[in-house]
Amino acid sequence: MKYNSYLSSKNEYSLSKYHNLANKLRDEGHQVINLTIGDPVERTYPEAYLALEESLKNRRISQYPSFKGKVSLRQSIADWAKRNHDIVLDSNTQICSTNGSKEAVFHLALLFDWSEGQEIWAPSLSYPVYASSAGLFDIPYRELPVSRETNFLPDLDTIAEEDWHKCQMFWINSPHNPTSAIASKAYLAKLLALAEKHDFLVCADECYNDIFYGELPTSILDFPESQHWLCIRSLSKRSHMTGFRSGALLSPNTELMKKILLMRPALGVGTPDFIQDAAIAAWEDDQHPKVFSEEYKVKQKIIREALNAKGFDIFGGDASFYLWFSHPKFNTSEELMQIFIEQHLVLTPGTAFGQDGEGFIRMVYCSTLDQCEEIAHRINSLNI
Ligand SMILES: Cc1ncc(COP(=O)(O)O)c(C=O)c1O
Repeated sequence: MKYNSYLSSKNEYSLSKYHNLANKLRDEGHQVINLTIGDPVERTYPEAYLALEESLKNRRISQYPSFKGKVSLRQSIADWAKRNHDIVLDSNTQICSTNGSKEAVFHLALLFDWSEGQEIWAPSLSYPVYASSAGLFDIPYRELPVSRETNFLPDLDTIAEEDWHKCQMFWINSPHNPTSAIASKAYLAKLLALAEKHDFLVCADECYNDIFYGELPTSILDFPESQHWLCIRSLSKRSHMTGFRSGALLSPNTELMKKILLMRPALGVGTPDFIQDAAIAAWEDDQHPKVFSEEYKVKQKIIREALNAKGFDIFGGDASFYLWFSHPKFNTSEELMQIFIEQHLVLTPGTAFGQDGEGFIRMVYCSTLDQCEEIAHRINSLNI
């Protein structure tokens, strides 16, 4: 059999590697704290479980769910968008349910014709699924360099005018995994103006937008007049519902959404009805992400103080639950990994997100408060 050439071990999903390393060290008997995966350990929004229980109570038969999401779910998402971003979206034609955002991110490239050499563009440090989707579908993928100097966002001014016509999908992830960088309103406006001029789609992966510590980060939803974006949302981080697998696609562009609705039935990604009922409860409440954010703020402070005391140079930290940092004494991410592993803290090297992450490391702090205190304690013991 001739397999997809992208399926070689050099393309192993980079984030699993470090998660597996943590498990291996634990199996060897070490008291490991796994800080590699953004999977909240604190309580799920309780009303979501109550809605799930209620939904399951009288069921005796099970049938296929609507792939698009039931009317009441799509309406709850439309209402959420209106309350939080003052955008009016038609729940019937401009919103679609997804099984979390990862599958939606992965499948999106199937929307387009790639036969004329068009490309997927993404920041050189990115959630790995943008690249693995391009790789598995054999679509040219362009990494746009980012660095501390560019606020870890692609510098739109450095892209040659004659190159823009090649772009078909432009991934922007704000707040950004792994760095927590936030794209300003002016940045997104500029990107949308380019999208309009060169006719590409801005794919806004916004699963961290509701976990923030200052002002609500600008969302692509704040640009209702543009037809050139698709917003990808998820309950995973916002409502601590990673295990439920529920998210949404939103866009004012009804032609685009029509294509999405034509594509998705074949994918087998209808969200089970009872999960949709839990999701409705979560979208209907705006308070719990604020409460969760307050809790993360306290946790970040504990860890940040410990890192500062050891001379780490921390970037950002105004949103998401990731800390991204370097240290003047260490040039490579691997060296940073090693000093943390000595304390049985497993983090993710910056290079797992792309070569421009060299010299940085990412720490997740969606742990319990006790664990964060233990992490700070172990940071104090780092051999620096
Ligand atoms: C940037 C980004 N996008 C999408 C996802 C997928 O999350 P989910 O499928 O749980 O919504 C993640 C998960 O960590 C992520 O970091």
